[in-house]
Amino acid sequence: MRKVNFLFLLLLAVLGSSCRSEKSYEGEWFGLSNKALLTVRFNADSTLDIVSEASSNMSFSCAYKINENVDPVQIDLTGAAGGMTGLGIMRINEEQSLEMCLNFGIPGMTERPVSFKADPMSMTMQYYKLCRDKENVLGEIAYSIKAPEEAALAYERNRRLGAGINLNGVVDGNLHPGYQRDAPLKDDEIIAIAEAGFQSIRFDICWVKHCQQTAPYTIDPAFFEKVDHIVDVCLANDLAVSIDSHYYPYINMNEEDSLVSYEENFVRLEALWEQIAEHYKDYPDDMIYFDPLNEPNMRLGEERWNVTLRSLIKTIRKSNPNKTILVMTPSLGQSWTINYLDLPEDDWNIIVQFHYYMPHLFTHQGLAYAMADGVGQVDWQGTDEEKAQIEKDLDYVTRWSQTHHRPVNMGEYGAVNTATTEARARYLGFVLEAARKRDISSHLWGYRECFEICDPQTGKWIPEIMEAMNLKNKN
Ligand code: GLC
Repeated sequence: MRKVNFLFLLLLAVLGSSCRSEKSYEGEWFGLSNKALLTVRFNADSTLDIVSEASSNMSFSCAYKINENVDPVQIDLTGAAGGMTGLGIMRINEEQSLEMCLNFGIPGMTERPVSFKADPMSMTMQYYKLCRDKENVLGEIAYSIKAPEEAALAYERNRRLGAGINLNGVVDGNLHPGYQRDAPLKDDEIIAIAEAGFQSIRFDICWVKHCQQTAPYTIDPAFFEKVDHIVDVCLANDLAVSIDSHYYPYINMNEEDSLVSYEENFVRLEALWEQIAEHYKDYPDDMIYFDPLNEPNMRLGEERWNVTLRSLIKTIRKSNPNKTILVMTPSLGQSWTINYLDLPEDDWNIIVQFHYYMPHLFTHQGLAYAMADGVGQVDWQGTDEEKAQIEKDLDYVTRWSQTHHRPVNMGEYGAVNTATTEARARYLGFVLEAARKRDISSHLWGYRECFEICDPQTGKWIPEIMEAMNLKNKN
């Protein structure tokens, strides 16, 4: 009898412990974030690692505490990603998946999420559905395609872009208050850009400000002449030119257009590209590139962007079968959103473009539009850890490029001039070199305004920055 009792108790204990382990959070979980692998590791020492394959910014280690006496279970993170707090809820489902919804923010000012769902409007909330089976997760994003021979052309064109600069502040002034400005550009300035060692320019143009505001949206011929002159001087100085459609506030900045509807603005964008492509069709295919829309974001999410870009590519191809098109990643051109792109399988003359400004608070310190007002004196010292973050992000883009057989361009990178010259030089030199090593072409942001690398008093290049960028060494 005593023996039976003992066995019974033993069985209960074993069952109890196996039930507990089924509900245990400890160990590794896998899921997707930005269509890339996400690993969440609950360590025995009450620390948690979140590792996003796509982004250094979303990868961190911190302390965690779980409260299992409430339903749903609560999790508190401390010291997450730059000292933030993270409040969340979690549940383990029947099929052994773990759902986690976390809200990040300043300690004491962050609210815990109330439901298990992604909130597309929130910049601070993350929702993850995770499981124990890594291979299964990887299977969801596995991609395999054989590149046709014609894919080589876009790589050659990307090499031609090399290390370039954005020509901003010349014709990109838009209708936003404070952004109306444009300033004249002397031919000598273009010559100086070429002499400094840049190989190409990304020409930031606000076309929508210079066309009829209602159909047929004809672009002002005098504006075309102004743009043409600059393009011609660039070509004469051996600078390849990427013609960008920069600010389009009615499509991707939530700005209301009082004359035509949101939908009609897509018709206008097509009409603009029909004219731009037609206008430049006889310019050399290996020197003129088209960049159909800067930083799709806000209302223009990834699904709509994929549809829009396919349509814009078709429009451009009607008059330009052989020009290279630079297609931007969704969500402001982030590097970590690259896997959302859905490119046409029958068009290989495409370069994928992303923008890189990490760490954001260093590159945008003090800028209100970038939610960094009041932030100052942020240094970038070039420590191994700081460098590793950038390498990780560029490695992700490179791996995507290799599996998708599409060359990539870093169409903007830069650091605002409120950072010290020494830190800017270190950072810009390192980012450019890291891109070059990976065959990523680039365009520094920018020629003018607060990211400029010329001294505003003398108009001369800032020597420390030019030296760090080492533009003339093209190897
Ligand atoms: C984007 C914006 C531009 C801004 C730059 C750096 O290109 O369009 O206005 O200056 O990023 O933040």
